[in-house]
This record gives sequence, structure tokens and C-alpha cells, in this order.
Amino acid sequence: MDRITKITLAVFLYGLAASFIVHAEDPYLFYTWNVSYGTLSPLGVPQQVILINGGFPGPRINGTSNNNVVVNVFNNLDEPLLFTWNGIQQRKNSWQEGLLGTNCPIAPGTNYTYRFQVKDQIGSYYYYPSTALHRAAGGFGPLTVVSRDLIPVPFDAPEADYTIMAGDWYSKSHASLRKLLDSGRSLGRPDGVLINGKRGKGDGSDEPMFTMIPGKTYRYRICNVGMKNSLNFRFQGHTMKLVEIEGSHTVQNVYDSLDVHLGQCISVLVTADKEPKDYYFVASIRFTKQVLTSTATIRYTTGKGPASPELPPAPVGWAWSLNQFRSFRWNLTASAARPNPQGSYHYGQINITRTIKFVNSVGDADGKLRYAVNGVSHVDSETPLKLAEYFGVADKVFKYNIIQDEPAASVTDKNHPITLAPNVVNATFRNFVEIIFENHEKSVQSWHLAGYSFFAVAIEPGTWTPEKRKNYNLLDAISRNTIHVYPKSWAAVMLTLDNAGMWHLRSTLLERQYLGQQLYFSVLSPNYSLRDEYNIPDNDLLCGIVKDLPKPKPYSI
Ligand SMILES: *[C@@H]1O[C@H](CO)[C@@H](O)[C@H](O)[C@H]1NC(C)=O
Ligand SMILES: *[C@@H]1O[C@H](CO)[C@@H](O)[C@H](O)[C@H]1NC(C)=O
Ligand SMILES: *[C@@H]1O[C@H](CO)[C@@H](O)[C@H](O)[C@H]1NC(C)=O
Ligand SMILES: *[C@@H]1O[C@H](CO)[C@@H](O)[C@H](O)[C@H]1NC(C)=O
Ligand SMILES: *[C@@H]1O[C@H](CO)[C@@H](O)[C@H](O)[C@H]1NC(C)=O
Ligand SMILES: *[C@@H]1O[C@H](CO)[C@@H](O)[C@H](O)[C@H]1NC(C)=O
Ligand SMILES: *[C@@H]1O[C@H](CO)[C@@H](O)[C@H](O)[C@H]1NC(C)=O
Repeated sequence: MDRITKITLAVFLYGLAASFIVHAEDPYLFYTWNVSYGTLSPLGVPQQVILINGGFPGPRINGTSNNNVVVNVFNNLDEPLLFTWNGIQQRKNSWQEGLLGTNCPIAPGTNYTYRFQVKDQIGSYYYYPSTALHRAAGGFGPLTVVSRDLIPVPFDAPEADYTIMAGDWYSKSHASLRKLLDSGRSLGRPDGVLINGKRGKGDGSDEPMFTMIPGKTYRYRICNVGMKNSLNFRFQGHTMKLVEIEGSHTVQNVYDSLDVHLGQCISVLVTADKEPKDYYFVASIRFTKQVLTSTATIRYTTGKGPASPELPPAPVGWAWSLNQFRSFRWNLTASAARPNPQGSYHYGQINITRTIKFVNSVGDADGKLRYAVNGVSHVDSETPLKLAEYFGVADKVFKYNIIQDEPAASVTDKNHPITLAPNVVNATFRNFVEIIFENHEKSVQSWHLAGYSFFAVAIEPGTWTPEKRKNYNLLDAISRNTIHVYPKSWAAVMLTLDNAGMWHLRSTLLERQYLGQQLYFSVLSPNYSLRDEYNIPDNDLLCGIVKDLPKPKPYSI
């Protein structure tokens, strides 16, 4: 696109966006994305990948708190497409979630413009295509939000701010992987680990991915965007100072290595204070017999000499990981995007109005592999749940509350029947809820909640009972959007349901999510007011049974 077209487009979109978004006073960031297939060989064999403007991973969205982000997505794939903004809370605005439960997909050969505000947030996040296992082909990229100028950040400005999208990877195309799952089989083991789309050879021949000036400190924002496995990260010869987890400034402990579970993001500071030469950044899979590893080369600008081939060792076992989780604390004196995020620092003093226990299970339905939450394996409906609810035809698409807050113990039995249905939990606006994730399986689970940040108050081995609340961290737990659960363990999170909308809770293990381990929270404000939720955007795509229905009366103040 030439410059004039770009400016014309930007001016046009600005006008368009300004008419929809309430907070028009905050600055706008405009992006135009051409989403297409390409062929790359990240593991040495050519395979189909999803590119954004020719790149894999996609471009960084770098916003400042409260910026309005406008992304015009051109779908040049041969399949319907949606993007989700993992970790962006979309306050009052689940219209922009970009999931099959909230939006109609963007048809091939067409474009759709997302408009959202990164309201009251800072931190490290990412976006990815949420449809049809597309993430297995790429299409993901970093989404970062920096503090506004006047808000102090609890560390000196780094020399540079780097992003790392790392994860396990398969050499098969997303279509072949999808065929496996659709036919009732599992994806099996991944074929490698990629760091920003590349697997380092680690033999001194790799081009440096990052450079550091001696004496300077760098921020590395690291996300695990893989499909199946937890990762451990480490910098050869250097320690990491942890400063942020998914939007919260942490107590700044120093680590030799860090476990980052599926879907999670952290920021660390690394100072270039060692002998000037090359070093490896190392990512390796955790909790598997066969350990896949990848490296990226980091070069001192004055560097003379290759990195040592000796990689720092990874930790072993999950007890180590659990201890590390317990060391993560929120820095209560550090400023966030606004002084008092999520309503209160004093989450430990709020009375719980509802406790919901989610138990993951695996089984089969009609002879095919499925994954479930409390015995129900979610299936997407042709009409997005949010639209069905908004147009008043929810009863034709799904039933609320088909799972129980306290599921029967038998849901984890191998022979327990798995129900296939849209899984929607009706939640009460502004309730303060406690969610327990119970994992009776032998693998590590990881869960992401959209629309919110929650306090991750505990992860413990065994089975949860109300007495376990005595051991919660009710003072300085991290407020974040993803929580992992070790084998035969549970995790507890707490949050206020103060964001009206249709919000997704999903297993971040892609295969489990695709095969039903996900659900939606319907959080409706009984007032139907613009104070609680934005109106449906004028450009919202309509499909299924709401395609030709008249739009309901807009919300007013
Ligand atoms: C989008 O990318 C594809 C593949 O790189 C290219 O063929 C096509 O011309 C691009 N479209 C636009 C509108 O830039
Ligand atoms: C991100 O945006 C901020 C604010 O505009 C800017 O200061 C910073 O340099 C940007 N960072 C990167 C890595 O682009
Ligand atoms: C598609 O892109 C054009 C600009 O090329 C823009 O004018 C239009 O609003 C976009 N359509 C949607 C539905 O966002
Ligand atoms: C917490 O943040 C404050 C304010 O920026 C900072 O001075 C302090 O060093 C931080 N504390 C820890 C333990 O990281
Ligand atoms: C919480 O519940 C306790 C016991 O029912 C009650 O005494 C207290 O006032 C409640 N606190 C708040 C903040 O509502
Ligand atoms: C959802 O829950 C609220 C509060 O308990 C209730 O008033 C409402 O009728 C429920 N809605 C549905 C559709 O079940
Ligand atoms: C609905 O609006 C009324 C009047 O403004 C207010 O008192 C009430 O708290 C609101 N309810 C909710 C759930 O926000």
C-alpha cells in the first residue's frame, strides 16, 4: 500500500472509529493486516504457515494504556477466520473478543475491522487466530501495553523492550492436525520448539535474534504460545529479574530459570554484565520424557566469539515449579495502569458470593476423543452465543447452566457420559466469585479467562475442600488471566464479575480446547445500560439465526 492510500485509510478509519468508541479522547493506533498462507520450514521441512503482512510471528501491537486499537483484518485464507486478543480485558466490549461464541467469522476474501481500547491495562499479552486450529499454523504475535507517561513504573526504563513468542510446534499443517482431531485421534507429541518462529541450531551458526550493549539492561517479554507443553526459559550465563506477569508488576525476585505454562506471559530484566560474546536464550519443554529444546542467539554488540555449546540445565519435576509459583508476589506498592485496578487491592476481605468448581476430564463421545469441563464438552453453535443472547433468541441456540457449580465426583470416571452442547454459565453481574480448578489427570492443565484478571490465590496438590481457604494468599497474589494446575492438584482464583459480556474460559492446551474443554460465562447487567456494556458495533457481522433479525433497541445511559 502506498503512503497516500495509508493516510487516506487512516483518516477514514479514524472517522469511522471515532463514531463508535466512547472514549474518543484517547489516541488511536491503526493496523491493516493481510492474513495469508505462506510456506516456511521452521523445523527443516516446508510447511504451510499463516502470515500477517508476510511475517511469522505477526507484527507487534504496542499500545499505551487507554489507547484505542483499530485492526483491519483482510482474510486471504481459504477458511473463515477470527482473531482474539488474549489478555486484553475488552471492558464492556465482549463484541470484540473474536471467538466463535462472540463473533461471526470473517469470510475468506473479506475484511473486518476490530476496534477496542486497552483500558486501564499495562503488560504483556498476545493475539492469535481463534478459529479452526489456525494457531497451529501461526498467525500469533505480541500485544504489549506500556504505562502512560505520568504513571511511574517500578524499574528504570530498559535499553530495549524485546518480545519472545515461544512454543511447541508440529511440522504438519493445521488442516492435517485438524483432521486428526476431527477423526477422534490425538495430536500426539510436538516435533519441536520455536522461538519467534525459528528453531535455533545451537551450533554457533545462527544469526543473533537479539543484541545487547554491554552494561545495559533489557526487558524481555516472554509468552508461551505453544499448543501442548509448559516451557522452561533461561539465559546462558545470566540471571533474570522478574518484573511483570500478565499485567501485574511483581516483587522483583531473581531467577536462573522460569517455568512459563501454556498461554502465560512474563517480563524479565536481563543486564548485559558478562564477558562480551554470544549467549543462548534457551526454551525447553517441561514434564515430558523426551525434552525438546530450542535456542536463540543473543549477541553483545562488542562481542567476540560464539556462545558456549553447553546449555544451562532445566529443572526436573513439578514440585520445583510449584515452589516457584509460590514465590510470585504482586508488588503492592507499584503503580498499575490506574491506582486501584479491578476495584480493590483488598480482595482478601471481600465475601465470596459464589464458588464454582471446574473439573477437567477426558473421554469419548460417539467413539471420538473429547475433553470436558464438569462432564460437558463445548460445541460451537452456528449463531454466536453473544449474538443469540443479544437478539433475544438464546433459547433457540443454547441452555444456560447445564453444568453444576459442584460437579458430581463421577465426572472424571472413564465411563461417565460426556454431553456435547454449548456450555454457558449464567453469572450475576458484580458477584465476587471463587473458581476452583480441579485436575484429576496426570498432565499439567492451564486455563485462561477472557474479560478479566483474577487473583491466583493458591495451587496445591490433592483435592480442594473449603478448609483449604486458610492457606490462600489473600494479601499479594498476582492478578493475572491464566492459571495452571499440576497433576492431581487444584488451583483457586478469585475475581469480581464486574465486566458485562460473554466471556470465554478455555483450556490453553489447543487440542483440549478444540475438542470441547471450554465454556462461556454470560455476565449480564440487568440494567442494559451503556454504563455497563457498549452497544453492538455497527459493522458487527451477523450469521446463523440472527442474520436477518432486526437489531434490538440500543442501550442508553
Ligand atoms: C496479501 O499477501 C499475499 C501473500 O503474501 C499477497 O499475494 C497479496 O497480494 C497480499 N494482498 C494485499 C492486499 O496486500
Ligand atoms: C511502544 O510504545 C511506546 C509509547 O509510544 C514507545 O515509547 C516505545 O518505544 C514502543 N516500544 C516498542 C518496542 O516499539
Ligand atoms: C474493509 O477495508 C476497507 C478499507 O480497505 C474499509 O473501508 C472497510 O470499512 C473494511 N470493512 C470492514 C467490515 O471493516
Ligand atoms: C515495588 O515497587 C516499588 C515502587 O516502584 C519499588 O520501589 C520497589 O522496589 C518494588 N519492590 C519490590 C520488592 O520489587
Ligand atoms: C462478610 O460476611 C461476614 C459474615 O457473614 C459479615 O459479618 C461481614 O459483614 C461481611 N463483610 C462484608 C464486607 O460484606
Ligand atoms: C441468570 O441469573 C440471574 C440471577 O441469578 C437470574 O435473574 C436470571 O434469570 C438468570 N438468567 C437465565 C437466562 O437463566
Ligand atoms: C442498576 O441501576 C440502578 C440505578 O442506577 C442501580 O442502583 C443498580 O445498582 C444497578 N444495578 C446493577 C447490577 O448495576
